[in-house]
Amino acid sequence: MSNTQTLSNTETDSLNNSYFIKACRGEPVKKIPIWLMRQAGRYLPEYQKVRKGVTFLELCRSPELATEATVSAQERLNVDAAIIFSDILVPLVPMGLDLDFHEQKGPVISNPIRLPNDLERLSFDKITDKCPFLFEAIKQTRKRLQNHIPLIGFAGAPFTLASYMIEGKSSKNFIATKILMHDYPEAWHTLMTHLSDVLITYLNKQIEAGCQAVQLFDSWVGQCCRNTFLEKVAPYTKKIISGLTKNVPVIYFGTHTSHLIDDMITCGETVIGIDTQTDIAKVMSKYKGNIAFQGNFDPILLFASKKTIIETTTNLLNNVGHIPGYIFNLGHGILPETPVDHVLTLIDTINDWSASHL
Ligand code: CP3
Repeated sequence: MSNTQTLSNTETDSLNNSYFIKACRGEPVKKIPIWLMRQAGRYLPEYQKVRKGVTFLELCRSPELATEATVSAQERLNVDAAIIFSDILVPLVPMGLDLDFHEQKGPVISNPIRLPNDLERLSFDKITDKCPFLFEAIKQTRKRLQNHIPLIGFAGAPFTLASYMIEGKSSKNFIATKILMHDYPEAWHTLMTHLSDVLITYLNKQIEAGCQAVQLFDSWVGQCCRNTFLEKVAPYTKKIISGLTKNVPVIYFGTHTSHLIDDMITCGETVIGIDTQTDIAKVMSKYKGNIAFQGNFDPILLFASKKTIIETTTNLLNNVGHIPGYIFNLGHGILPETPVDHVLTLIDTINDWSASHL
């Protein structure tokens, strides 16, 4: 385990033998490990309490509040891993982008980059020095989590981060992003190179501060065709993963990626995140033993009846739960309107399945 200097031997052993870390290594486990993307989100009363009276970015920049959001979600759901509370867009602010989060519209950047010249306004120097709150939150969270609960650090992958820097908001068609990628390939390469370099340091520092695994969120990479992915995205993902200095599991996640999974798997990650649309059983039977797998449960089904949740979860587990190296998660993040008791039903169902099948 990486951060032996800050953790006791008992804690290190306990984390190394946790269900989540063992599953990341592809080892058989007595219980399917569970965590949920956006587990500390607006659907949760504990989150709303921490978020009250502060803006979203203030919450991200307060180590105490970010710690509270992280730990309270893990404890409320009693899941097998915590993910540090932050956002993939946080490091864009010290790069010189003017980011705000709107209640309805989500993230908005008022000075997006559109043309090669715009890159000159950005700084990629010492970005991590300008995010001390994140590493402090990781330290505080690690101290508060129980010994057997790993903490996951994360970053946006370069394509997905670039899409926000260029579009200035969440996008449907990624028009400006694809224009920069294809009309100005050199500028694209420069941007991706800078982002990869920043992200290597950013993730290494999270691991040093106390994370046992990291996830690269490439949420919108499924918008790329295979050739574009191979030429303009994958080299940078590979560079980041190979630039991580400690041997901790890396999860690479994207959505609408059925056509890219074979190539995403060549990027060097330990765990591949599987979206809802992909046939996970097929992917797992093809790659089992070579990589671990996470995800796939449709977050929208959390709005359906408890009976449906129990049936669909059980079906998924009957299909893939016996294969070593599976981590339960959703195919994408929990939506804000999701009923908490349905999330608890999901978790109970998975734990009951493990108790009777593993
Ligand atoms: O519990 C966790 O998963 C940890 C925290 C976390 C957040 N965002 C908190 C958040 C993580 C890992 C993210 C990642 C993130 N952020 C992604 C990748 C995952 C994905 O969902 O695809 C992306 C694309 C973003 C960018 C982002 N941040 C958007 C589009 C939005 C607005 C839409 C939304 O879902 O609310 C955010 C805001 C955000 N990030 C919130 C939270 C809890 C809601 C902010 C609020 O309290 O108002």
